[in-house]
Amino acid sequence: MKRVGFLTSGGDCQALNATMRGVAKGLFHIYQDEIEIIGFEDGYKGLMYANYHLMNRSAFSGILTKGGTMLGTSRQPFKLMRVPDENGLDKVELMKHTYYKLKLDALVVLGGNGSQKTANLLSEEGLNVIGLPKTIDNDLWGTDMTFGFQSAVDIATNAIDDIHTTAASHGRVFIVEVMGHKVGWLTLHAGIAGGADIILLPEIPYDLKKVVKKIEERTKGGSRFSILAVAEGAISKEDAALSKKEYKKRLEERAAKYPSVAYEIGARIQEMTGQEIRVTVPGHMQRGGAPVPYDRVISSRIGAHGAHLIDEGKFGRLVVVKNNVITDIPLSESAGKLKTVDPNGDIIQEARLLGISFGDK
Ligand code: F6P
Repeated sequence: MKRVGFLTSGGDCQALNATMRGVAKGLFHIYQDEIEIIGFEDGYKGLMYANYHLMNRSAFSGILTKGGTMLGTSRQPFKLMRVPDENGLDKVELMKHTYYKLKLDALVVLGGNGSQKTANLLSEEGLNVIGLPKTIDNDLWGTDMTFGFQSAVDIATNAIDDIHTTAASHGRVFIVEVMGHKVGWLTLHAGIAGGADIILLPEIPYDLKKVVKKIEERTKGGSRFSILAVAEGAISKEDAALSKKEYKKRLEERAAKYPSVAYEIGARIQEMTGQEIRVTVPGHMQRGGAPVPYDRVISSRIGAHGAHLIDEGKFGRLVVVKNNVITDIPLSESAGKLKTVDPNGDIIQEARLLGISFGDK
């Protein structure tokens, strides 16, 4: 009898359930009745404090399209993993204790950057770990694609599409703020898909004068409205020149005045142009609802590959998508690295040819 643990960690996204279903279906196919799946509740917390339940075949039925995670999740920052918990206990030791007590043969971690760093740590501590690449941010190093990303692109694009009609009616400048944490993948893809005129990304610091220039050019050219897709991590050229400490202070000052970056940009453009600006923030909607078919396919394939790795006894691996092939790399290769948008990459050059401004020139 094999015994495998599952946990979902960090911010949720679409296709977490679909991915677990993929692994489970693969395992049931390979091992028939000789497999037990243990689901840890609320991410690493469940592994630390032994909150878990047995998941039988029926637990994985009817969940391909269900958003969220049936196991629950929580954020357990990697940097705090070696900091003792409120009872003075070592979190890593707690997790190892649960793993060995349950006599697990493998642990499957569905998570993004921080979660996979912890997965790598557990692997280095001797546990048999498989990482599966989750996040709407698509910023996990080593994989072309993470599950959740395309579903979030879909939602953010729909938001931009809907804003287009009202922006056109009123002749307004609209800003749609898109999630993505410190990287611009989601904003870039939703911005292009939604036909945004200006896209502001963390990787390409903006100059507001250039942003305003683009809006004015559009107005002169007869366009009644402009749409900006702004990443939640967008940064101005002045702010990009600040030290880490100075930037932190700057963000604190901004937070006291504006709910987020888009509101500050909106207020400043309004001052500079006298035009009416409106801001829309789809926020956590971008992580919710059913996965799009693309995500259902890659998450099922990623899950099946995870089951295959367990069967092969190949651990310490992160399942990745490379040129449409589902493969795996060492967890240690990805841990601690961020996949950012290349400011000189093809997609940026192509977007510029389409007339999209990144607010930098
Ligand atoms: O990593 C996914 C993500 O949605 C980011 O895009 C965003 O910055 C962050 O999580 C929001 O985190 P929380 O749900 O903790 O507010």
